[in-house]
Amino acid sequence: MPGAELFGDEERQEVMDVLETGILFRYNFDGPRKGIWKAGTFEEEFSRYHGVEYCHMCSSGTAADILSLASVGIGAGDEVIVPPFSFIAPIESVLLLGAVPVFAEIDETLCLSPEGIEAAITPRTRAVLLVHLFGSMARMDEIVRVCGKHGLILVEDAAPALGATYRGRHVGTFGKVGCFSFDFFKVITAGEGGAVITDDREVYERAHMFADHGHDHIGDNRGAERHPILGTNFRISELHAAVGLAQFRKLDSILARQRNYQGQLKEVLSAFPQITFRDVPDAAGDSATTLGFFLPDAPTAVRVHEAMGKAGVGTAYWFNNNFHYIRNWDHLQGLHSAYKLPVSLLDNVPDYAGIRLPKTDALMSRMQMIEIRLSWTQEDLDRIKEKIRGALREVLG
Ligand SMILES: Cc1ncc(COP(=O)(O)O)c(C=O)c1O
Repeated sequence: MPGAELFGDEERQEVMDVLETGILFRYNFDGPRKGIWKAGTFEEEFSRYHGVEYCHMCSSGTAADILSLASVGIGAGDEVIVPPFSFIAPIESVLLLGAVPVFAEIDETLCLSPEGIEAAITPRTRAVLLVHLFGSMARMDEIVRVCGKHGLILVEDAAPALGATYRGRHVGTFGKVGCFSFDFFKVITAGEGGAVITDDREVYERAHMFADHGHDHIGDNRGAERHPILGTNFRISELHAAVGLAQFRKLDSILARQRNYQGQLKEVLSAFPQITFRDVPDAAGDSATTLGFFLPDAPTAVRVHEAMGKAGVGTAYWFNNNFHYIRNWDHLQGLHSAYKLPVSLLDNVPDYAGIRLPKTDALMSRMQMIEIRLSWTQEDLDRIKEKIRGALREVLG
């Protein structure tokens, strides 16, 4: 939980600015708000940092996924290629829009592979929803090439990889639209919040309007605004934006600390020849929220996971995790929903219970991950390194 570990006077001051005016709504009230526009300021700074023209802040990363997909025109019956290793929000977002998630294989980057994407393409494929998982990035050159070759829209969900770059360019800026989350567990947090970034004016216009019931946001009189499109409420509040803004200004120091700690842990693991690391296509651009590594086989991975746990170092063994891997997404496999999903009317819906992704399963069963904590002191980290060495020696010799 990196950003959330660093609340301080900066967050308090930004929130107090908003409370002092009493204007918690991000639009209108030009006079009473006395020049305080936290969502607007966050948008300006976020787009400048990413080198893009437009940013729209919204209520969550899930909202950002939905806005991104809707704003590039994804809808009923469209197939969208998605990863099986991800939080389920992007997949739910595709389903909510009446589109069809089609799962493809990942590779050692732990993100969708270009080969996997190409193998999953059908005549109904419209887009790839690429997730840059847990701090790092996919093989961007090849994925951009595959999307271009097949005329697919690339949507990047960089929710867990804010600050990561590939060859000097930020993740989230390679496709038509990129999205981010600022929930409580992300690189920076707003409590709840999300962002959509794009260079495409039309995509941006649709995103901000869709996020606010189609309002066109032309001035200070909300009642006089037009509604060119239907939408919903995915607005961020000024309070959330205030926290997010303060956190965002800490991003560089967060990344520096994560990279330092990740580097130290990697050095410890590197002493064990049985361990190989997650493929990071541009090591200098890893935001380093985690350290992912592979053991030679699944039984060894389980033994390492258990030994680390016993030593007091939690590692995530995602293969068995309920949240992040398709194997345990029972709700998806049965398409359990509170309402009649649009996909139930379509004839191109995969049998989600029958999906087989052998390459992904093989990788996931050997992989585990250590989460980097910002609250560690160097002394904490030294103790953790000793524990890791001990646990690994016990299993790997
Ligand atoms: C890849 C990915 N996309 C989207 C989300 C959703 O973000 P939020 O919790 O802000 O809705 C998450 C959250 O964990 C995520 O990991």
